[in-house]
Amino acid sequence: MENFTVIIQEKIGYFCVFYKEKMVREDDIIKAASYIREGKLVAFPTETVYGLGANALDPLAVAKIFELKRRPSFDPLIVHIADIRDISTLVATNDNRIYQLAEKFWPGPLTLVLPKKSTVPDIVTAGLPNVGIRMPNHPIALSLIKQAQRPIAAPSANKFGKVSPTTAQHVQKHLPGVDFILDGGKTQVGIESTIIKLNEKGFDILRNGVITKEDIEKIIPYAPEDKDKNAVLASGMMHSHYSPDKPIYILNDNLKVDREKAGLLSFTGQDIYGYKKVIYVSKNTDMREYAANLFEAIHQLEDSDVDYIVAEPVPEEGIGMAIMDRLKKASYRYQKR
Ligand code: TXA
Ligand code: MG
Repeated sequence: MENFTVIIQEKIGYFCVFYKEKMVREDDIIKAASYIREGKLVAFPTETVYGLGANALDPLAVAKIFELKRRPSFDPLIVHIADIRDISTLVATNDNRIYQLAEKFWPGPLTLVLPKKSTVPDIVTAGLPNVGIRMPNHPIALSLIKQAQRPIAAPSANKFGKVSPTTAQHVQKHLPGVDFILDGGKTQVGIESTIIKLNEKGFDILRNGVITKEDIEKIIPYAPEDKDKNAVLASGMMHSHYSPDKPIYILNDNLKVDREKAGLLSFTGQDIYGYKKVIYVSKNTDMREYAANLFEAIHQLEDSDVDYIVAEPVPEEGIGMAIMDRLKKASYRYQKR
């Protein structure tokens, strides 16, 4: 992967954020921020994937997200903030562990599920008493939230159940009806944030991401809850999700593959001969790089002339857990059971 460089130039009345060849002008961020305040929808880059944002405090604006994504109303949204002080306006607890985690991981790809205040409309949390909050690590996202002066509710900017977008072009393809897209180029992390829920003893993981259980355990203990009691259906917990429009399978010894028709997502770079297309998702079996390129690679094969996609599995440890979660969910409906 090419090096990620962000150069921020601040001059009087002039500000732009560069992402490789992409540039978002301050004017565009100001326009996007006023759209948010007016109750419109803005797609914007975060470090993980593109989000489809609306003013989190405006239930009608948030309803538009569900409508455009065709997302079921039982699936709650993450609220994005740009200032740690905003936690206290949204969350009904002063738990010190929140600030310990925020200090270590924010801005960054960690979402905390916490008891909500009544300021957070029920539509955001799908009627749940908890709200998911994170501070994204992306200059465009942070600038947008600050200029809008509102917390921004944003799911990934794809149709419900489909592969998350890592470029503005993916957003355009999925959601042409969005009011505005801030194009910040390809996102850096490439898979969605880790989601954790705090409980009395420590934390439970609702969705794996590049911040791993081991990373979080350095701050507070891992204390999984009984999943049966957990009524929440985080997309991280659904069997089928991130599903491309072409069939996708995880390679295993029993899978018969007609290589002339298949596109391969390669991890090791080995046994690649005969495939119609091969994408080296990471060059040196680097999991972070694999995560960054995975959705982009799936989008590419989806748009190519292959009949189906096969993915070489990666070791299920650390970030590999998050990658295999995505691959298992993407392939779930095509598995023989
Ligand atoms: O990296 C990310 O998290 C991206 C960027 C845009 O921030 N967002 C994202 O949002 O992936 P979404 O909506 O595609 O996935 C968020 C998941 C949902 O499946 C939802 O079920 C879960 O977070 N979630 C949100 N609020 C929750 C809550 N209060 N309790 C349990 N799960 C929650
Ligand atoms: Mg999503």
